[in-house]
Amino acid sequence: MDMKKNYKQSKTLWGSKVRKELNEFAKSYTYSFPFDYKLYEEDIGQSIAHVQMLEKGKLIKHKEKKKFLNVLKNLKKEISQQIKLNKFKTNKDYEDIHTYIEKKVTEQLGDVIGTKLHTARSRNDQVSADTRLYIRKNGVGVAGLLTELIHTIHNLAEKHKYIIMPAYTHMQLAKPVYFRDYIRAYSEMFKRDMLRIENCLGRLNFCPLGSGAVGGTHYRTINRKFIAKELEFSDYIKNTVDAVSDRDFVLEYLFVLSMIMMHISRLSEDFVMWSSPQFKFITIDESFMTGSSILPQKNNPDVCELARGKTGRVYGNLMGFLTVMKGLPMSYNRDMQEDKEALFDSNDTVITTLKVYIELLKKLKITDRNKENMMNAIKVSKGFANAPRYVDYLVEKGYSLRNAYEFVSRLVHYCTLNDLDFDKLEDSHIDEFINNESKIDRKSIKYLRQYSKKSGIRNFIKTGLRACSFNNYLRTGSRKRHTTLGNSAVSDVNKQLTQERKEIRNIFKQIQHTYSTRLP
Ligand code: ARG
Repeated sequence: MDMKKNYKQSKTLWGSKVRKELNEFAKSYTYSFPFDYKLYEEDIGQSIAHVQMLEKGKLIKHKEKKKFLNVLKNLKKEISQQIKLNKFKTNKDYEDIHTYIEKKVTEQLGDVIGTKLHTARSRNDQVSADTRLYIRKNGVGVAGLLTELIHTIHNLAEKHKYIIMPAYTHMQLAKPVYFRDYIRAYSEMFKRDMLRIENCLGRLNFCPLGSGAVGGTHYRTINRKFIAKELEFSDYIKNTVDAVSDRDFVLEYLFVLSMIMMHISRLSEDFVMWSSPQFKFITIDESFMTGSSILPQKNNPDVCELARGKTGRVYGNLMGFLTVMKGLPMSYNRDMQEDKEALFDSNDTVITTLKVYIELLKKLKITDRNKENMMNAIKVSKGFANAPRYVDYLVEKGYSLRNAYEFVSRLVHYCTLNDLDFDKLEDSHIDEFINNESKIDRKSIKYLRQYSKKSGIRNFIKTGLRACSFNNYLRTGSRKRHTTLGNSAVSDVNKQLTQERKEIRNIFKQIQHTYSTRLP
């Protein structure tokens, strides 16, 4: 019997003379090679470490190991080249990347040596290891892109550090803030995303190899610690049932990617709104905008819209795979193969989104016209944006916060009823308001008298309103006080930025140092 020929007849790892060939429909339904070929580097890397362990355990000879190493390294080069040239074929002959690699090795080394590659391992521990290595590599990559994105945000904050813009809550003008504080809210979010990546990699960086299909292997000479170290995992997974059963690490990564997209999506929503003719707070470079096939005046923020849209599919991947996992009995089940497309899709989507956003932000402009529009948006509030400052002013004069709030609310209400600007009240209006106050709330008049001292109630209100006016803040506030328009004084910003930049560099260095590894 020609063993070599017989083996070649079956392209699966489990095929044999006595089994029927898999049905064609069943083949295309179950085979993952068309997408999991992306794990080739990880699979070859772990195979290299594996043969080293096999030799140590005297399960293969030194000569055989050398042959394996040679073939595996060449195979890696070959696949990478074919992928680059778009020539890599993921045809139906192979069930998955693990099968492909073993078959290719066996084609070159023959059955007797080639099939030894699978000694002391199963595709169940193999696929878990590959996926962990893949996420580790890509997690570092995503953290790198986040670093660049944050860096770009910091540059924008520095460049436009004096720009004042309206801040909204409930989509209604709340108060003026500095652009630098607004945009750095996003760098803070992305910083936490980086920390989430670090955290997630910390939990997944354990080696399942040596667990076999489930519950370990029967070879006494395998060294799980050794292979874990070779692949730069922190340690090996002690429980060999857990090692092949869970995909919580995939889900966690999918969650972190979803969170990144959620942040990008909110930024996109801001940009869609603010680049629109109704707002015109920012100018997105034309090379990131599209025209309309029928409306010549249109300049559409498609990149931002698509980033917002793609967030949906990244969430979908997370929700979909969470659902896959929820009812699985222990231990490995083929359902788990569904993690790959979700993982690759979310990973690629986040990477391309971050890349395009870095470029978009680098070219983002805030023109004089944009600045003017931001100012006008604050001013159209009829001065009501000053109301919160007026409350604080009264508190500083000795009012209790509740009394100050109540008093200012009534002044706002008076202005609204009479269609008056909060920051442009005439003496006659103030008098009328005081008159109303005395009818509504005697205590209020008592306070006003107490705090106005000798200047008189009308003057006390007038001085307060002037002190809290937006123009007054523009003139003196930002220099005089530490917390004025936003939450940082101009003089502190450079220091803060230096600190923030340093922090981001350190976080990335730490991630790189711990998790960016070279596969064998
Ligand atoms: N392609 C499979 C996956 O991604 C590999 C593991 C196959 N294991 C098995 N027992 N059929 O999950």
